[in-house]
Amino acid sequence: MSTITINITDADGQAHTIADATTGITLMEVSKQNGIAGVLGNCGGGAACGTCHVYVDAAWQDRLPGPDSIEEDMLEILEDTRRDNSRLGCQIRLTDAMEGLVVKVAPPSDY
Ligand code: FES
Repeated sequence: MSTITINITDADGQAHTIADATTGITLMEVSKQNGIAGVLGNCGGGAACGTCHVYVDAAWQDRLPGPDSIEEDMLEILEDTRRDNSRLGCQIRLTDAMEGLVVKVAPPSDY
């Protein structure tokens, strides 16, 4: 286990740099640990609520492992806020390769 730096803009538009994000846990979990506004994680990481929805910076989109079918199904439900770069933070497990990751919290969905 190690730590990496991630950059996340919260739901209020405030930019945060988290310099000690622990690898092996998810982006949703580290966001909650750091009180990032707009990341609720209501389903506990089961890809079933969409309250960890983030937009991945374009430079990072192809550098992350892609969503599985369960994540895709949840993202489809978030159609009012979904973009090409949408991901569920609970499905992004941090690794050393994600040093410098840049994401933005998506607005809440009306679903
Ligand atoms: Fe519920 Fe990610 S925490 S979908």
